[in-house]
Amino acid sequence: MGIFEKGFERPSPIQEDAIPTILAGRDVLARAKNGTGKTAAFIIPCLEKVDTSLNHIQILMLVPTRELALQTSAICKEIGKHLDNLQIMVTTGGTNLKDDIMRLYSPVHIVVGTPGRIHDLSDKKIADLGKCNTIVMDEADKLLSPEFQEVLEALISKCAPKRQIMLFSATFPVTVKGFKEKHLPNAHIINLMDELTLRGITQYYAFVEERQKVKCLNTLFSKLEINQSIIVCNSVNRVELLAKKITELGYSCFYIHAKMKQADRNRVFHEFRNGATRHLVCSDLFTRGIDIQSVNVVINFDFPKNSETYLHRIGRSGRFGHLGLAINLITYDDRFNLYRIEQELGTEIKPIPPVIDRNLYCR
Ligand SMILES: Nc1ncnc2c1ncn2[C@@H]1O[C@H](COP(=O)(O)OP(=O)(O)OP(=O)(O)O)[C@@H](O)[C@H]1O
Ligand SMILES: [Mg+2]
Repeated sequence: MGIFEKGFERPSPIQEDAIPTILAGRDVLARAKNGTGKTAAFIIPCLEKVDTSLNHIQILMLVPTRELALQTSAICKEIGKHLDNLQIMVTTGGTNLKDDIMRLYSPVHIVVGTPGRIHDLSDKKIADLGKCNTIVMDEADKLLSPEFQEVLEALISKCAPKRQIMLFSATFPVTVKGFKEKHLPNAHIINLMDELTLRGITQYYAFVEERQKVKCLNTLFSKLEINQSIIVCNSVNRVELLAKKITELGYSCFYIHAKMKQADRNRVFHEFRNGATRHLVCSDLFTRGIDIQSVNVVINFDFPKNSETYLHRIGRSGRFGHLGLAINLITYDDRFNLYRIEQELGTEIKPIPPVIDRNLYCR
C-alpha cells in the first residue's frame, strides 16, 4: 500500500486502535478528534479486506458531502495504488447519472459516495450491493441526521445481511444511539476524546455588532498572518454577500455552498486546495472532514448554534499536530450560544487580545 508514500511513518492513536479491530471483522463506533487520521483508520483495513479477484462491490464508504466523497476516494486511490486491479468508484449527486451507469458496467470493488446517488443507483438495479459486506459511515452522526436517515436505512437493507458496519466521527450526539443499538449492538467502541477541543487550536471571540462584522474581518486580515483561511457563514445568501464584500476590500477570495453548480463547487474546492486563493467563504457544507493542511485560521463570521457544528468548523485548522486559530465574531444575540457551547465543550473561548502571538498559529 502507499502508506509510506503518503508520509505516514507511524499510526496515529485512532489508527492503532481501529485498524486491527476492523481487520478482526468487528463492527466499530469510533470517535476521535478532528484531524487525527480517521480516514486512513478505515481506508487501510478496508483495502486490506478487499478481494480484487471478485468482481463485485465489497465496500461502501458513505460520506455526507460531495466534496468529502471526492477527497476520500482520492485518498483511497492514493493509499491503494499498489493493489493490482483494485477498482474504486466515486459517485455523488450533481454529476451525470449516465456516466455512473456506464462505469458500473466494469468491475467496482469499493464505492465511495453520498447516500442519495448510491441509493438511486441501487434502486435502479445498476449498483448491486447484495454482496457488499462492509459499510463505512464517515461523519456518521451527520449521516444519521433526519435528512439522510431514511435513505441510509434503505441502503443498509440492500447490503449483505452479514455485514460489518463502521461509524466514524469526532462528534456522536445521543441521536446516534438508536441506530447503534439496532445495527451494531456489539460494536467495539473507541473513544479518544479525553477533551473535546484540539490542543493546537487557540480560540478567541470578538464582540461586535452585526454591521461591524465586515470591518472587523478587514482588521483581522490586516493583522493576522493567514496562510489560508476558512470563513463560515450561517446561510448561502450570506456566503455570497460576504465573498463579494471581501473581494471589494481587495482580498482574493472564493466561496462555496450547496446551491452552486457542482462543476463550480469542484473548481473552487480544487483551486482552494492548490492555494489559488487565500480565503474561502463557505457554509457548513464545507466544514466536515475537509482536510487542507495549509488552513491556519478559521473565522466564524456567524457563530454556529450547536457545539458539534462549532467543533467541526474550527477543526478545519490545526490538523494532525499543526497549529490553528479560531476567531468567533459574536453579536449580542449569540451570547447565550457562546456560553452554552463553551460549557458543552468544557473550553474557554477568550476575548481577542490586541495582538495575537504568531507562534500560536503559524507553523
Ligand atoms: N499516520 C499518519 N501520519 C502522518 N499524517 C497522517 C497520518 N494519518 C493521517 N495523517 C494526515 O492527517 C490529516 C488529517 O487526517 P484525516 O482527514 O483523516 O482526519 P480526521 O480524523 O478524519 O478529521 P475530521 O474529523 O476533521 O474529518 C491528513 O492530512 C492526513 O494525511
Ligand atoms: Mg474525517
